[in-house]
Amino acid sequence: MSKNVVIIGTQWGDEGKGKVVDLITDKVSSVVRFQGGHNAGHTLVIDGKKTVLHLIPSGILRDNVECLIGHGVVLSMSAMIKELGELDAAGVDAKSRLKISPGCPLIMPYHVALDNAREIKRGKAAIGTTGNGIGPAYEDKVARRGLRVGDLLDEVAFAEKLKDVMEYHNFALTNYYGVDAVDYEATLTEALEQAKIVIPMITDVTEKIHQHIKNNENILFEGAQGALLDIDQGTYPFVTSSNTTSGGAVTGSGVGVTDIDYVVGIVKAYTTRVGGGPFPTELIYDVSIDEGDQIGKILGTIGHEFGATTGRQRRCGWLDMVTLKRSFNLNSVTGICLTKLDVLDSLESIKICIAYDLNGTQITTPPFDAQGYADAQPIYIEMPGWKTSTIGTKSFDSLPIEAQNYIRKIESLSGLPVDILSTGPDRDETLILNHPFDEA
Ligand code: GDP
Ligand code: IMO
Ligand code: MG
Repeated sequence: MSKNVVIIGTQWGDEGKGKVVDLITDKVSSVVRFQGGHNAGHTLVIDGKKTVLHLIPSGILRDNVECLIGHGVVLSMSAMIKELGELDAAGVDAKSRLKISPGCPLIMPYHVALDNAREIKRGKAAIGTTGNGIGPAYEDKVARRGLRVGDLLDEVAFAEKLKDVMEYHNFALTNYYGVDAVDYEATLTEALEQAKIVIPMITDVTEKIHQHIKNNENILFEGAQGALLDIDQGTYPFVTSSNTTSGGAVTGSGVGVTDIDYVVGIVKAYTTRVGGGPFPTELIYDVSIDEGDQIGKILGTIGHEFGATTGRQRRCGWLDMVTLKRSFNLNSVTGICLTKLDVLDSLESIKICIAYDLNGTQITTPPFDAQGYADAQPIYIEMPGWKTSTIGTKSFDSLPIEAQNYIRKIESLSGLPVDILSTGPDRDETLILNHPFDEA
């Protein structure tokens, strides 16, 4: 029996989704992206060679895997062409295996201008977006004024629609935000040029998916961002503009709800966040102080916690079971993939947040929005560290007992099995205890 597996991040992104998607595509015929855009940065390391993908599904390095971009993804043609060029330079022929849904909203230059103008206007309350125009492109989709990939097929109609939408956005850019308008003619010329590369890849992705299902072929759905950045369920307004939870795989690709067999929840062994917003277990550290014992700094340094898309330093902190348990429920997580365990290798002791103190009351469910987190103080349990390298561990039993206990604790607190354990960035530095595509 074939299976359809969804991989999602359970925290605020950068859990290691790209690495795991690449790893388990050894058993699939196709990988589908279903939301987000080039705000994502998914890092793959194979035999020491690093590839960072933003828009192209993380199955692209496996020659026989088809890569599908579902209509839930907002597509920047310039970002896509740049990424295709990088892959081409690395000897990967991506074009022939990449298929794009005509329903993908296009991210255009005025979306980028709007994203940046808004962030500047927000000042201290800025969300810390990637500046890639993601939010404005989704807004146009919901407002039913957006241009989609399928619109590229009719140049005349495209030019007309573009004129209308640009008139609207340029009005806001100049009159409300007080910045320069985006030039219509230049935007049109560039888009039509880029379309020549994109048009041959347009495919009915939903139909493809259902053909694969009919043919009994395994499909992997690759999430971007993390559940706590979900537009509806995340730490609003410090979220991205798509549904990053596993339900997004259904709405963003056209697969049916009951066609999903397994949801892998990727959990980083600690927590990181890029940009603004609440983060109760954050370990704030002072970069200017050269003290080796600042734990946030240790996590950030050993874990190389710098954004794969913007290069920004990621905020680091302890594992938070309060938000994680909500994530597991939201996503119907079947099994956990625990990543970056090795980053904790040098620590004396390790904390897990199991509840929040909210003005004297202990709560175990996450607040409704960012505001609700303002006074949430983490309540921790503490476990001894193992102070031994776990990099590239090849069996569970060979892990130090303290590391085994940490993993078992996560399992008992969540009620879910750790099916995959990652102890290094390389594809090989992974221990698969239960392959999501194997028969139960
Ligand atoms: P994604 O957005 O979820 O795909 O994650 P990113 O690629 O943005 O960030 C994860 C980072 O951690 C990348 O630099 C990976 O190469 C790296 N990484 C993934 N798994 C592990 C692991 O188990 N150990 C270590 N040390 N690094 C890892
Ligand atoms: P991957 O797929 C981490 C964050 C941004 C910002 C917020 C909104 O690599 O895990 P946006 O540009 O989406 O409007 O920004 O979301 N963000 C991410 N953080 N990993 C990502 O992707 C992210 N994509 C967006 O930093 O706080
Ligand atoms: Mg990332």
